[in-house]
Amino acid sequence: MSTSEPVNIIMIGMAGSGKTTLMQRINAYLHEQNKAPYVVNLDPAVSKLPFQANIDIRDTVDYKQVMSEYNLGPNGGILTSLNLFTTKLDQVVSLVEKRASTTKYFLYDTPGQIEIFTWSASGAIITNTLAATYPTVVVYVVDTPRTASPATFMSNMMYACSILYKTQLPFLVAFNKTDVVGHEFAVEWMEDFEAFQRALRQQEDESFMNSLMHSMSLVLDEFYSHLRVVGVSAMTGQGMEAFFGKVDEAVKEYHDEF
Ligand code: GTP
Repeated sequence: MSTSEPVNIIMIGMAGSGKTTLMQRINAYLHEQNKAPYVVNLDPAVSKLPFQANIDIRDTVDYKQVMSEYNLGPNGGILTSLNLFTTKLDQVVSLVEKRASTTKYFLYDTPGQIEIFTWSASGAIITNTLAATYPTVVVYVVDTPRTASPATFMSNMMYACSILYKTQLPFLVAFNKTDVVGHEFAVEWMEDFEAFQRALRQQEDESFMNSLMHSMSLVLDEFYSHLRVVGVSAMTGQGMEAFFGKVDEAVKEYHDEF
């Protein structure tokens, strides 16, 4: 099957936000559409993957062995495993390039501990290398039910904002688990500054946190205006079509800019 230009999708999100389940859902959806993706697992510590990865970091580095060999804790073990894997990134790129004429979407699942990928040198090297090959969309997965309070919402959006500015890549926020809680409240808070302020005021606690949130929401208002957002459920498959609509839109906008 020949296809149009490939797109890399890097899945990033807080632990438990549903990255792996969403990868599984996207993988299944693309198979149904006859657009089988190429899947890369970058999480050395995942015990069981619910999908077949074409490239799996665990085939190259044994995270538990790395921990004992270098006398590291779990996070140090994951980071060092990622560093070791990054030294072989050229091999990954050449494998990916061989599939580029027949595959449209290349999916990358990242470690559960978000900061290990987003704030490490190897995370940056992987992201920049991928972005130099094909248009690359960063998907920031949000656990919608756990983000329904103004304070957690704001913290999550601050994190998303920092990743957007760090990577400078097309960016999509995927509000996951919409089978449990819809993401309409998030869209409203992003589009209507007053609505978010009202939600903040409704919180009983008039603490320092609230006044910090109030100031921060002014900063984020600008960020929201550049943000692409979609609601999905990795569990039910709801929102898959909209998800790819937004991914393609992000890639198109990227091309228009350059
Ligand atoms: P880490 O491995 O810690 O990085 O987690 P992750 O972000 O990969 O999340 P994972 O896919 O392991 O999902 C975490 C939990 O959320 C699991 O119990 C999933 O079954 C559940 N989950 C994921 N997506 C959904 C969803 O759309 N709806 C519901 N109801 N649960 C979900």
